[in-house]
Amino acid sequence: MERHYKSDENTKKMIELKNVCKTYIMGEGVTVNALQGLSMHVNEGEHISILGPSGSGKSTLLHMMGLLDKPTSGKICLDGHCTEEMSDDERAYIRGKKIGFVFQTFNLIPSLTALENVMLPMMIYNAPREEREERAMELLTQLGMENRAGHKPSQLSGGQRQRVAIARALANDPPIILADEPTGNLDSKTSTEVVEIFDDLHRRGKTLIVVTHDEGIAGCADRVIKIKDGRVLEEERLVKRRKRTYGSKD
Ligand SMILES: Nc1ncnc2c1ncn2[C@@H]1O[C@H](COP(=O)(O)OP(=O)(O)OP(=O)(O)O)[C@@H](O)[C@H]1O
Ligand SMILES: [Mg+2]
Repeated sequence: MERHYKSDENTKKMIELKNVCKTYIMGEGVTVNALQGLSMHVNEGEHISILGPSGSGKSTLLHMMGLLDKPTSGKICLDGHCTEEMSDDERAYIRGKKIGFVFQTFNLIPSLTALENVMLPMMIYNAPREEREERAMELLTQLGMENRAGHKPSQLSGGQRQRVAIARALANDPPIILADEPTGNLDSKTSTEVVEIFDDLHRRGKTLIVVTHDEGIAGCADRVIKIKDGRVLEEERLVKRRKRTYGSKD
């Protein structure tokens, strides 16, 4: 399926960061400036890859975008909602509704089954248990995991855990998916499968932001943003040619 990049004038900004700084205070006068005046935006339906060396601030950036943490200064707007004045409850609500997270280490709850893990984010809506169960099962089925719904994370392979984590990220049908090294712990075949799932989510209109060290995976995006020392170093808009395979050299 061809994807055409829409011009900026016609496109809604899904995420916008202006001059965002994040300083971690370590005590005894030690501080870490993880983000140093970072500005960027992500359009609705865009697939962005974020590349950068270890320690450059990629995870910090994703945490800020996902409202898991607050910036020290600067402005973050999500789908038209500016977040700096929001209460913690409002932030949690927006996060639950607008954002799905996928992590390198899956971050599933070990004591819960795959189905229960996927049902968890749906708690914010107070929907009846049967409804949540049905929706979670539907998502696991979409990801080819219907036969593992009753398994605990420790009874699943890495790729299967990541599929459950992706199903969980989709639980509330958020418009934005943030993924931090989602293939970092997977072998190349399983990585390809996960990349294909992301590609499919993008085709279905999700806005995707994927942090990766892998240039092959980064090459699947509409735009690559390189960060260094907590700032945007450069960005490159990629022309969509054809489906790329994980690890392909061309
Ligand atoms: N909770 C924290 N407290 C103190 N310093 C932190 C914290 N989280 C990150 N840092 C520091 O902030 C900087 C950016 O870290 P971050 O985790 O965002 O990097 P990264 O680009 O994701 O690296 P990697 O590729 O290794 O995952 C690093 O110097 C790190 O040591
Ligand atoms: Mg990181």
